[in-house]
Amino acid sequence: MTRERYRELVREIGRHDYLYYVLDAPELTDREYDKLYDELAALERAHPDWVAPGSPTQRVPGAVRAGLRAVPHAHPMLSLDKATTEAEVLDFDRRVRELLSEGLEVVYTVEPKVDGVSIELTYRDGRLVLASTRGGGDVGEEVTENLKTVRAVPLVLEHRGELVLRGEVYLHTADLAAVNEARRAEGEPEFANPRNAAAGSLRLLDPAATARRPLRLAIWEVLEADGRPSAHAEALAWLDGFRLPRQKTLHRCATIAEAWTRLREIGERRAALPYEIDGAVVKVDRYELRERLGRTARAPRWAVAYKFAAERATTRLLEIRVQVGRTGVLTPVATLEQVRLAGTTVSQASLHNEDLIREKDIRVGDRVVVEKAGDIIPQVVEVLHEARAGDAAPFVMPERCPACGAPAVREEGEAARRCTNPACPAQRRAAVLHYTTRAAMDIDHLGPALVDQLVERGWVREPADLYRLRAPDVALLDRMGERSAQNVVAAVAASREGRGFDRLLHALGIPHVGATVARTIAGVYPDARALLDADPEAVAARLAEEHAIGPKIAESVRAYLARPDTRGVLEHLLEAGVSTRPVEAGPVATEGPLAGRAFCVTGTLSLPRERLHELLRGAGAAIHESVKRGTTDLVAGDKVGKAKLDKARKLGVRILGEDELWALVPRP
Ligand code: IVH
Repeated sequence: MTRERYRELVREIGRHDYLYYVLDAPELTDREYDKLYDELAALERAHPDWVAPGSPTQRVPGAVRAGLRAVPHAHPMLSLDKATTEAEVLDFDRRVRELLSEGLEVVYTVEPKVDGVSIELTYRDGRLVLASTRGGGDVGEEVTENLKTVRAVPLVLEHRGELVLRGEVYLHTADLAAVNEARRAEGEPEFANPRNAAAGSLRLLDPAATARRPLRLAIWEVLEADGRPSAHAEALAWLDGFRLPRQKTLHRCATIAEAWTRLREIGERRAALPYEIDGAVVKVDRYELRERLGRTARAPRWAVAYKFAAERATTRLLEIRVQVGRTGVLTPVATLEQVRLAGTTVSQASLHNEDLIREKDIRVGDRVVVEKAGDIIPQVVEVLHEARAGDAAPFVMPERCPACGAPAVREEGEAARRCTNPACPAQRRAAVLHYTTRAAMDIDHLGPALVDQLVERGWVREPADLYRLRAPDVALLDRMGERSAQNVVAAVAASREGRGFDRLLHALGIPHVGATVARTIAGVYPDARALLDADPEAVAARLAEEHAIGPKIAESVRAYLARPDTRGVLEHLLEAGVSTRPVEAGPVATEGPLAGRAFCVTGTLSLPRERLHELLRGAGAAIHESVKRGTTDLVAGDKVGKAKLDKARKLGVRILGEDELWALVPRP
C-alpha cells in the first residue's frame, strides 16, 4: 500500500513538474506541492531502498567536478546552411527537388530557431543517461549532472531502448534580465545575450550553480528512437507522450510557398515571444527523404536556417556621458531619446570606447541607428550623417576624470582610459558599494544614496572606514533616522564576523578577480595574513602554475599586493577587526556529505538554530543567514514566511522540512 503510494507520488510530482515547468499551467499551490514532496521524502527516509531514479529528490545537484568529460558524438552535430532572402529559400527547395526524384511531393516543416546552445540527450530504457554539448561538432562535453537540475527535463520516462534527442537549452528574456540584475548587484559581469548565459550556465563545473539558473529546454530533433514515427512533425508530437519539452511551434507545409509565409509570420511575431530567436528553420519532414538528401561536410542538405535581420531602430543621441568604474576605467555611454526596440524600451546604448566613437564619428544630437543583435545592451551601429544639423563637435574623451579631475591616462595597447587618482570619489564610491554587495560582504542597508554621502563627506574613503561609523553621526545624514542609522551600523558590524576569506577577497574588487578566482585564491592561502605575508611575485607565479589562473589575472593580483595603497585596503580591514577565516564562521569541513551545499535554516524547529548550523557545518555545508543566490537548500520549520518560500522557489533552492534534514545529518 505505502509502496504504491510512493510510486504514485513520484508520478504525481513528475506530472506537476511538467505542468509547472513545461506547460506553464500549474494545478497546485506551492504549499500543496510541498506537501506531496514532503510525503515522498518521508517515505524515502523510511525506505531508502525504494528511492526511484525518477524521484524528484534525484535532481539534487551532484558534486563539483574538476573539468567536463569529453564525449564523442555518434552523429556529428552539424551546422545549418543559411538563407536571408526569399530567393535563397526558393533555391533551397529547388536543390531538394533536384536531388530527389522528379515530381515527388516534399512536405516541409517550419519552426523557430531559438537562440541558445544545442545539446544532445540520451535516454536508455527510459533513463536519462547522458547529456552533452555540441563542442566542435564531433566531440562535445558531458553535462549530464547539470542538465538533470533543469526541472523541465524528465529523469525517467516510459520508453524501451534508445532515445537520442537534440534540442536547445535557453532562457526566457525576463529570466535572463533577472540573472543579469543579480550579477550586476554582485559586481559580476553580465551575460551579453541568452546564448552566452545558457552556455555559461550549462558548462559550470558545479551542478548546484547550474540548478540556480532558470534554464529551459526545447527539443528540435528526434535523432534515433525505437518506435519513432517516420517524419519529423509527428516525431516531435510523439514526444509529448513522454512529457518531453519540445519545440512547440511547428508548421507542416505542403509547399515551399507556404513555408515562406510561415517564416515571415514567425519573424513578425518575434518581438512578442518570451524568448529570443534568431531565425526559423525549414526542414524536410520525412526521414526517408532526409536520408536520401544526405549532408555536406558542415550541414545537412535537408534543412535551411532563415536568418532574420537584426532588429534596428532610429533615434536621437542626446548625450554622451562618461562613467567611472571601481577600477577607474572611463566608459562612454550614450543617452538616447527613448525608442522601442525588440520588445523593450531603450534609452541607453553602449559606446565601448573612444576609438569606436571616432571610427563611426558619433556626435551629440546625431540621429543614430541602434541594433540589438541578440545582445542585451543595444549598440549604436550607424550615424545618419546626412541628418546632422552641422554644429555638433566631435566627441573628445576627457583627459581628466569627470569625477575628480585627476589625469585620466590611456596606457599603450589599452582601449580604455583610466583615472589615475586612487582617491577618486567615483572609484571610492563604486569600490565601497561593491564591498557591500551580496556576493561580497553582504551588508544590508547601505544603498548608493547613503554611500554617496559617506564618501562626499570624507567619512568613508575605503571599506575599512565603514567599521568606524557611529550611529549618531550616520543619523545626521539625509534620509536617515536614528533607527535606520542603527541598522546600518549593526549590518556593518555583523559583516566583521567574516563572510569567509574568499568573499572578502572578492569584495576587495581587485581587477579581474571575481567570485570564482577569489575562491581559488582562498583555497591556496588560508587567510589574509598568509596572503599579505607572501611575496607578491611568488603568489602570482603559484596561482598561474598550480591553479591555471591566467596571466592577466595573476598580474592583477601581483600588482594589488605589491602596491602599498591597494594592499593597505586589506591591511586596514584586518586592523578594523574583520575576520578572514577561511569559510563562514565555525569549524568547516570541506569534505562531508553536504560539502558544496549552502543551507539556510528558518522557521521554528525542534533544536535551536545555532545548534542546527553546527550540525550542518559539521557535515560540510555552508550556512546562509538568508535565502540568496548561492543557497542550495532551505530548511523550513514551522511558521516559515511565504515570502521566504517563494524566494527559495524562484531561485531553485531545495526546500526541506525538518524531517528531511534528519535524513541528511544524524539527529543528536
Ligand atoms: S535543426 C544539423 N532546429 O541552430 C543541425 N536547430 O545553426 C540541425 N537551433 O546547432 C539543426 N533551434 O543549436 C534545428 N528548431 C531548430 C533549432 C536549431 C535552434 C540551433 C541549433 C543548431 C543551430 C544551427
